[in-house]
Amino acid sequence: MENKVIFISGSAKRLGAAMAKHLHSLGYNLVLHCRQSTEQAEALATNLNTLRSNSAKVVSADLCDMGNLANLAKQIVACFGRLDGLINNASSFYPTPMGQIRLEDWQQLVGSNLQAPLFLSQYLVPYLRAQGGVIINMVDIHAEKPLYEHSVYCLAKAGLVSLTYSMAVELAPEIRVNGIAPGAILWPEHALESGEKQQVINQIPLKHLGSEQDIAQAVAFLLDAPYITGQILKVDGGRSLHGSGKV
Ligand SMILES: NC(=O)c1ccc[n+]([C@@H]2O[C@H](COP(=O)([O-])OP(=O)(O)OC[C@H]3O[C@@H](n4cnc5c(N)ncnc54)[C@H](OP(=O)(O)O)[C@@H]3O)[C@@H](O)[C@H]2O)c1
Repeated sequence: MENKVIFISGSAKRLGAAMAKHLHSLGYNLVLHCRQSTEQAEALATNLNTLRSNSAKVVSADLCDMGNLANLAKQIVACFGRLDGLINNASSFYPTPMGQIRLEDWQQLVGSNLQAPLFLSQYLVPYLRAQGGVIINMVDIHAEKPLYEHSVYCLAKAGLVSLTYSMAVELAPEIRVNGIAPGAILWPEHALESGEKQQVINQIPLKHLGSEQDIAQAVAFLLDAPYITGQILKVDGGRSLHGSGKV
């Protein structure tokens, strides 16, 4: 993986940070990204650079602001002068019950989960093509089966699944494009009742949450899987085999 550079949106904490640490341990260089979590992103970069000098940099942007994206793409490539992988991981996630959906919700949820992955990919395609690169879109098992009162998030992720298939066809053979659909890995930042958490666990055939490492390993696999494109890899303990969930 020597000299290969991976950009991960929303990588200051949680799954994005876990991916960054795992890929770094495999020898990749990282361009980390944050919007508000600047301190965590800088601290993570400092840790990674302590382990291996000049191996991690941080860029910052609100991905819902379309005016930022072209400049962000330039900054990403300028970090190490090349790009081998784009991981569209950043995401807003919150409920939008029917009857209460505001235009701001649409802009935030579709903006971060669908619009930004499309336009950022488009800006970065020339650089990825030059390296025979990879795009990985973080989707969700709820792109297929609805999550109750989350219609806008679900439709944005469903759009991202569709975009994954379209890009896989249009960007081949130079660029491979895949998605990962996590089930329940980390609880959302807004707390769930313990009863709701148990209800989720009851729906998972493997009877426990996934771990950050499960996702990080799936990302590493797809980065280095030369004959796989246009696939959505479910990492969900079998949860998607059941019906739609409430949480
Ligand atoms: N956690 C799970 O169990 C789970 C389940 C299914 C799918 N997923 C998917 O897996 C991915 C990672 O999940 P996660 O739970 O680790 O994500 P998360 O913590 O909810 O969000 C990751 C980061 O996205 C960034 N972000 C949100 N809106 C943004 C915007 N407008 N502009 C720029 N950055 C923005 C935030 O950065 P700042 O903090 O810097 O603002 C946040 O730290 C997501 O795509 C998610 O949908 C996760």
